Amino acid sequence: MTMKNYTFSAPAEQTDRDEAARQKAFLERARRDVDDLAARLGRRPTCHINTFGCQMNAKDSEKLLGILLAAGYEETESEDADLVLFNTCTVRDNADQRVFGRLGRISHYKKKNPAMKIGICGCMMQEPSNVERIRKSYPYVDLIFGTHNLFRFAEYLCEVLESDKRIVELWNATDRIVEDLPSDRKYPYKAGVNITFGCNNFCTYCIVPYVRGRERSRRPGEILEEVRTLVSQGVKEIMLLGQNVNSYGRDLGDDITFARLLKACAEVEGVRLVRFMTPHPKDFSDEVLTVIADHPNISRHIHLPLQSGSTRVLKKMNRRYTKEQYIALAEKIRKAVPDASITTDIIVGFPTETHEDVDDTIDVVRRVGFDNAFTFIYSMRRGTPAATWEQIPEEIKKAEFQRVLTVVQETARKQAERLKGKILPGMVEEVNSQTEGYVTARLSCNMIVHIPGDASMIGRIFNIRLDRCCGFYYFGEAVGEI
Ligand code: SAH
Ligand code: SF4
Ligand code: F3S
Repeated sequence: MTMKNYTFSAPAEQTDRDEAARQKAFLERARRDVDDLAARLGRRPTCHINTFGCQMNAKDSEKLLGILLAAGYEETESEDADLVLFNTCTVRDNADQRVFGRLGRISHYKKKNPAMKIGICGCMMQEPSNVERIRKSYPYVDLIFGTHNLFRFAEYLCEVLESDKRIVELWNATDRIVEDLPSDRKYPYKAGVNITFGCNNFCTYCIVPYVRGRERSRRPGEILEEVRTLVSQGVKEIMLLGQNVNSYGRDLGDDITFARLLKACAEVEGVRLVRFMTPHPKDFSDEVLTVIADHPNISRHIHLPLQSGSTRVLKKMNRRYTKEQYIALAEKIRKAVPDASITTDIIVGFPTETHEDVDDTIDVVRRVGFDNAFTFIYSMRRGTPAATWEQIPEEIKKAEFQRVLTVVQETARKQAERLKGKILPGMVEEVNSQTEGYVTARLSCNMIVHIPGDASMIGRIFNIRLDRCCGFYYFGEAVGEI
């Protein structure tokens, strides 16, 4: 078994072109290995990536799949494949448990197909105890790597295909940004674009800064180049991705801010819609709001994680805003961009949280009137400050969670009703699998609408009349293409 731990210093140039060239050479080699495998099998080998977690992981999986397809694998929907890769998330314990569960269940495929290769990567692998557990209890896993060295996947693929040894390589950190490697976009019409990697906020409950490292911004020129390329390939909707997009550019030392980057992206010729995820309330500038208000092609959806409505809890969470500041910001957003929806993330059961603290959270939910909210039960993450504090008993967490959920659903339904009868632009994303003869569109405000139609409408933008509200989604009709 190989086990290496490296830490790198920053290269002179941000994009590491030497490493990209090195990985391309490995990709050539992997192509020959896959050809040999195909000859042995008498068919093209298949691959499957199982992705957990957030948009960052979804984006990383597109890069991993890009390499696999370029090497000659064929993608399959089934985990009964010649190569299966788990791209993991560790933000909450149930994410970890799901991965271990799935990993256990695929062992029988390998018994049937001994040439099968199983790999695991992503955020969970940056936590040594998880790696230990895999090494001990899942001997059939062939490849383990982490978030910082994902760009070396072509190299690991060669190693795995050329030997029966288990390959384990984990880095503690990296300053490198390696681009220009293949990527296979899941959707032809929409794409995520990384603008920052990592996070510097260290919210006291959160594992992300430990598993994704320090915040690094990509240079604006490289981001804009990627956006232009995507548009030239037919992409209509771009989502700018970062753990805290508002702090974009701080490490670049130039005069660049998120507001300026957002404006530049929205003004790229041919971009129909620009979304972004996630802004942090503490860094939300007026300039960003002005840019949104001035550009109709920036999404009318702002996901603004609240986490808690109690100023005392927020302080303990290290969120760096108060209840009042959050409400004031939400009001400012409603005034500057009245047609924008505001959605949020809420954690219930944070250490020391009282019934009154939860009342404060509920109060903010009511006063802001969120269009939607993801509510999570606090999950203790090893190595974070909050893990060492007095924990709330499970049954209290569950009861308080239910209390918040009820109000969240109430405001979301009320907000959704406000759209009834309106005609708004939306892009058709997929054929509706439940209702025959229907397709599903997403509006700029992120609302989902089911409309009569067929696959030929996918990736096209229509004016859609919102007829029937079903709580969190609508039934409607296209009244003309735009
Ligand atoms: N960077 C984003 C969120 C990343 S994680 C932000 O700051 O908003 C996505 C969501 O998971 C968070 O908003 C939070 O609500 C939730 N989360 C993170 N750590 C958690 C934990 N330990 N327990 C429960 N929920 C958690
Ligand atoms: Fe986690 Fe906070 Fe960073 Fe979001 S901002 S990723 S919640 S540490
Ligand atoms: Fe999960 Fe990693 Fe994203 S921990 S939420 S996949 S950054």
